[in-house]
Amino acid sequence: MTDAETTAPEYWEAFYADRTPRWSGGANALLVEHTAGLQPGTALDLGCGQGGDALWLGGGGWTVTGVDVSASALGLAEEHAWAADLGGKITWERHDLAETFPEGAFDLVSACYLQSPVAIPREEILRRSAVAVAPGGTLLVVSHAGWPAWVTDADPTVVFRSAEGILEDLLLPAGAWVTEVVETVDRPVLDPDGAPATRPDNVVRVRRASV
Ligand SMILES: C[S@@+](CC[C@H](N)C(=O)[O-])C[C@H]1O[C@@H](n2cnc3c(N)ncnc32)[C@H](O)[C@@H]1O
Repeated sequence: MTDAETTAPEYWEAFYADRTPRWSGGANALLVEHTAGLQPGTALDLGCGQGGDALWLGGGGWTVTGVDVSASALGLAEEHAWAADLGGKITWERHDLAETFPEGAFDLVSACYLQSPVAIPREEILRRSAVAVAPGGTLLVVSHAGWPAWVTDADPTVVFRSAEGILEDLLLPAGAWVTEVVETVDRPVLDPDGAPATRPDNVVRVRRASV
């Protein structure tokens, strides 16, 4: 379902509706790496899908709000939370982030692979994400920077933003933020045959100045 008429909420609800486990089900390695040194506080996971990152943060002492546009994804995330002894401890909110955004300020706002084959206003959403970071808090944006190494017939119309471009898109006010990480890394993945391969990913980690 990716015809021109399909909206992002429709696409993602259909994607998750059959309850098939998507991706690893665990936390993203780059989220784990880039939050390891942070003091747990409140966290907002944008585009949380089936909850892998939110559960990992919750298990590490963070008070987490997971947000996704798909009610089916959130339902499965909630089930996973109960299975992981985190039932009732993570808040799940359904938002189309193009339209509405969770209330409040958070010590960590993460947007891991908040990317969509159906267009979403990603730059606007990421700018709004920065507003939701509390003083002294961290914004972590992780995104694909290209296709996996084994893909040789990639759709040439798909353009991946660079890490530097993402930082520019955030339009962070000078002096109010510390840029901690802006990089592209080759993340180890397995190819469809289970052989080791890589995929390039962007990491942008910025910290809001304390007041
Ligand atoms: C590529 S998946 C990544 C899921 C998860 N963060 C992960 O790393 O496994 C993108 C996620 O963003 C969500 N999403 C896409 N557009 C959205 C929107 N407009 N508002 C809220 N969530 C959205 C999708 O439902 C999906 O779960």
